[in-house]
Amino acid sequence: MNNFEFYNPTKLIFGKGQIQKLEEHLPQKAKILLIYGGGSIKKNGVYYAVKENLSKHSFVEFSGIEPNPQYDTLMKAVSVIKSEKIDFVLAIGGGSVIDGTKFIVAAANFEGDAWDILEKRAPIKSAIPFGTILTLPATGSEMNSFAVISKGNEKLAFGHPLVYPKFSILDPEITFSLSNRQLGNGLVDAFVHTIEQYLTNNINTPIQDRFAEGILLTLIAESDKVMKQENDYDSRANLMLSATMALNGLIGIGVNQDWATHMIGHELTALYGIDHARSLAVILPSLLRIQKDTKKDKLLQFASRVWNFSSTDSDTMIESAIQMTEAFFENLGVPTKLRFYKISKQDFPKIISAVRKHIPVNLGENQDIDEAKLLQILEAAY
Ligand code: NZQ
Ligand code: ZN
Repeated sequence: MNNFEFYNPTKLIFGKGQIQKLEEHLPQKAKILLIYGGGSIKKNGVYYAVKENLSKHSFVEFSGIEPNPQYDTLMKAVSVIKSEKIDFVLAIGGGSVIDGTKFIVAAANFEGDAWDILEKRAPIKSAIPFGTILTLPATGSEMNSFAVISKGNEKLAFGHPLVYPKFSILDPEITFSLSNRQLGNGLVDAFVHTIEQYLTNNINTPIQDRFAEGILLTLIAESDKVMKQENDYDSRANLMLSATMALNGLIGIGVNQDWATHMIGHELTALYGIDHARSLAVILPSLLRIQKDTKKDKLLQFASRVWNFSSTDSDTMIESAIQMTEAFFENLGVPTKLRFYKISKQDFPKIISAVRKHIPVNLGENQDIDEAKLLQILEAAY
């Protein structure tokens, strides 16, 4: 096992009706900025529930954070923080609103060009504290310190301990208003987050493996009920907890991590506007095929423990596990081939140079995914 330090200060407040506890978790006398997206919280009533539970605080609002949050919009919120002398921010939304908020609270206290936080990894020294009310189980942003921000065709990430949420309220009933597209995306994103930390090389980490397999098995087991849209509380609660646990740092302790699928996927989103999870569903299966030798031990374990598949032939085991993963994604309505998005093969060099521009080193847990392998992965994904 690798050495590690594990730190996660976000308080989780989980369950039905927990929004009623909102005010207990806010600093007294703080002036609050509510940040949200395109209005789903007004349609499903979350906005009004939040307002009812904010009677002791003065607050202002900033709405219109887009999916794949845009730098220019976020900088407008930074101006509001400064002009309104905001002490605490409350993000209400999915990964985009929460990621956007992380950037806003860091940029508000940053001297200089805030884009440098992303492009030059300029260190941040302080951030306005914030909490979240999660509306879409997928990214884990509600309990981690990462954010992914877009500007034109650039989609860049940053992370810093100062942007862990102080608390996150997770009420599974809030997910009842999600569309099948967003539910499918959420299941796939959480699944791939788990795989990026689990399907790497085997360095004898049985506890982390069992944590990861528990998440994968839960996502698979709950997916039918989640997608049937029967507003089944328990399946939504299990999905919500799985997605949070998939990317709050726990399953990644002491293991080697991959993240190449995400790095390639981010460029597909930046260049073609493909939903985050959908970009991953296209890349992951082909990446596993190309990397099957270095990931062999874990792929065999994945085939047997997660897909309950057995064969005496290891190639059959591995290929079957990848095909079952593809079928799982497809059944969620999430395509697994690049050609579905009508991207021309002639675009592959452009995609590869965008990946290399943003991450100028080889990708993967063994840093062995170079330009030639990127091309192989894209071709196998077509
Ligand atoms: O904007 P509103 O009106 O709220 O609508 C949103 C949005 O259109 C809607 N929605 C959210 N909750 C809803 C709802 N609709 C009905 N009922 C609800 N309860 O769903 C749409 C998509 O929302 P978005 O926040 O964009 O989705 P998601 O949570 O999948 O976040 C994706 C973003 O997170 C980043 C992605 O790159 C992408 O920008 N990621 C962040 C990570 C992190 N911070 O650790 C890791 C991930 O790998 C990912 O990169
Ligand atoms: Zn993701």
